Amino acid sequence: MSEVEALRAGLVADIDGAASLDALEALRVGALGKQGVVTALLKTLGGMSPEERLEKGPPIQDLRESVTNAIATRKAALEQAALDARLASERVDMTLPAGDVPVGSIHPVSQVMDELAEIFADLGFSVATGPEIEDQWYNFTALNMPESHPARAMHDTFYLRAEEGVESYVLRTHTSPVQIRTMKAVAQKTGGAGEPIRIIAPGRVYRSDSDATHTPMFHQIEGLVIDKGIHLGHLKWTLETFLKAFFERDDITLRLRPSYFPFTEPSVEVDVGYSLENGQRVIGGSGDAPGGGWMEVLGSGMVNRRVIAAGGFDPDQWQGFAFGIGIDRLAMLKYGMNDLRAFFDGDLRWLKHYGFSALDVPTLSGGVGA
Ligand code: DAH
Repeated sequence: MSEVEALRAGLVADIDGAASLDALEALRVGALGKQGVVTALLKTLGGMSPEERLEKGPPIQDLRESVTNAIATRKAALEQAALDARLASERVDMTLPAGDVPVGSIHPVSQVMDELAEIFADLGFSVATGPEIEDQWYNFTALNMPESHPARAMHDTFYLRAEEGVESYVLRTHTSPVQIRTMKAVAQKTGGAGEPIRIIAPGRVYRSDSDATHTPMFHQIEGLVIDKGIHLGHLKWTLETFLKAFFERDDITLRLRPSYFPFTEPSVEVDVGYSLENGQRVIGGSGDAPGGGWMEVLGSGMVNRRVIAAGGFDPDQWQGFAFGIGIDRLAMLKYGMNDLRAFFDGDLRWLKHYGFSALDVPTLSGGVGA
């Protein structure tokens, strides 16, 4: 075998056996690169006589062609193998289970608001709303809290900036102004005659106050019943029925304590009895039993005559009762949370822990009506 023939056989064998594109490239440089063995042979042609070149030229050109072709063939084979390997490993397997999709949860406040709306809807109450930026007349004056009234100062009110001589708006300090707005709307609709009212008004309220049990924004729900012949017994039955449904216990006990609110007369503060069960305080049972006690949950009373009049109703004909409850506090009591501030921090870990699944719990927010 000639020298050139032997070189070709060796190079082609190496090229056919190249295990990777990198190894193949190294072989190409070694043969056809500037310093390559085939290039060196081609260079020798220049120094040959025409006769010698005629004799030795064709085998050297053949050598170059064979090596070039072998490299192209091997390169195509290696590239195809790499593609096959990728196709095999990157195949989409439709039988695999789907990955985790992050799902939001229903905030405890929304959950409790829905529970309250459902309970009171069963008792014939509808939901009323009012603005959070409120007129001082609705927030205070019409509720029997004239400008000089000390309770007005006790509310830690946020006042909005106003022009000289114009009374500023406030961020409503309670949901009670919705009582007035509702009565006035009904009075107007009925041409001053009035008609029975049964509403709840849940929503955000604002006070300049912040610690473990107070946040500058919190939630209340207001209740108002106006009718003829309404008395304290109706109030007590309504609250008892509501608290039994909310805490899901029949042994709820209430204690009505005389109190004072400008918009009710008489006024009562309502405590609910709790008892000690397995070392835990739970709502229910008699608060007077050993280990038990009473927890204040809401304020209420018979609507003050002046408030009925401010609402455009005749207080000689119409009576009513009203109540106001802290929704956040109810949520804390029912679901065992202790720091009110965590409600509004927006910490996803807290929401995941205390939030409600839209699918597990049939509520209005969840879209699956009970
Ligand atoms: N508005 C009162 C407050 O924010 C709560 C309240 C008490 C509302 C008695 C009422 C009521 O309707 O009758 O402290």
